[in-house]
Amino acid sequence: MSAAHSTSPLPGAAPAVGITVEGLSKRFGAFEVLRGVSFTVQPGEIFVLMGPSGSGKSVLLKHLVGLERPSSGRTTVAGLDGADPATRERVRMALVFQAGALFNSLSVYDNLALYPREHRLGNEAAIRDRVMRALQILSLENAVQKFPAELSGGMKKRVAIARALVMEPQLLLYDEPTSELDPVMSATITEIIATLRQRYQVTSIVVSHDRDLALAIADRVGILMGGELIFLGPPADLRNPTDPRVADFLNPRIDLEHPRFKHLET
Ligand SMILES: Nc1ncnc2c1ncn2[C@@H]1O[C@H](COP(=O)(O)OP(=O)(O)OP(=O)(O)O)[C@@H](O)[C@H]1O
Ligand SMILES: [Mg+2]
Repeated sequence: MSAAHSTSPLPGAAPAVGITVEGLSKRFGAFEVLRGVSFTVQPGEIFVLMGPSGSGKSVLLKHLVGLERPSSGRTTVAGLDGADPATRERVRMALVFQAGALFNSLSVYDNLALYPREHRLGNEAAIRDRVMRALQILSLENAVQKFPAELSGGMKKRVAIARALVMEPQLLLYDEPTSELDPVMSATITEIIATLRQRYQVTSIVVSHDRDLALAIADRVGILMGGELIFLGPPADLRNPTDPRVADFLNPRIDLEHPRFKHLET
C-alpha cells in the first residue's frame, strides 16, 4: 500500500478512462427502452445526459457499470467490455445512485468505510484518513457520526458523492445529483462535480434534468428521448436549439387551456 493510497481519497494516480456506447439497445419484455444509442466520452470529460422521465437515463448508466446487459450493441470502459464483470475489477468506477442508496443502519463514517474495508485498502487508521478527507472535500466533517435518517436531502446527496470518492474512482457516474435540492445546494453540488473533474481529471457522466448544471459544467450534452439520442453536442448549442423536440424539452410551455384539463370543468 503506497503512502498516497493511505491518505488520499483521490490521488490522481490512475488515468481517467474513456467510454464508448455503440448501438446500445435494451428491451424489457416487449418494451424497448434504448434503441441504438451511440456516443463516446473522452477521458476527463464531463458528459451530461438529459431527457424526460422514463427515457432510459438510469438504465443507460447501469449498463456502464455492468448492472444491466445490452439486448444488442455494447459499451466499453477504458477499452474493456462494460458488460463483463471483470471490467469492474480493472477500472474503478462509482455510481452515485439517484436516491443515494446509503445503508440506513450504518453511520456516515461506516457507509464511507465499507468499500475500503471490504477491499482491504489499508489498516483502520489509513481508512479513517481516506474517509475524513472525502468528508472534508464535501464539507461534511460534522456529519461523520450521524445516521442517514438524521441527514437532510442535500447532505445525503453529498454523503453519496463522498462515498464514491473514497473508491478513488477513474469514472464517476452521477444519477440526478441535484434533484430535490434548493437552488443554492444544487449550485454547490454542481461546483463540486466540476471541481472534482478539474482537480482529478475524473471522467464524469452526469444524468440530470438541470439545464443550469448542463450549461455551466458540461463539455458535451446528450438528450435521450423515445429511446434515441435526439441531441449530442456542446451545451452552447442548447441555447438556440433547432430541433423542436429539444426546444420543447428545455422550455416546456405551461398551458392551462390544454384539453387534458377540460374534464375538470363542471
Ligand atoms: N429492471 C427493469 N425492468 C423493467 N422495466 C424497467 C426496468 N428498469 C427500468 N425499466 C423501465 O425503463 C424505462 C426507463 O427507466 P429509467 O429508470 O432509465 O428512466 P429515467 O430516464 O432514469 O427516468 P427518471 O428521470 O424518472 O429517473 C422506464 O419505463 C422503466 O419503467
Ligand atoms: Mg432515473
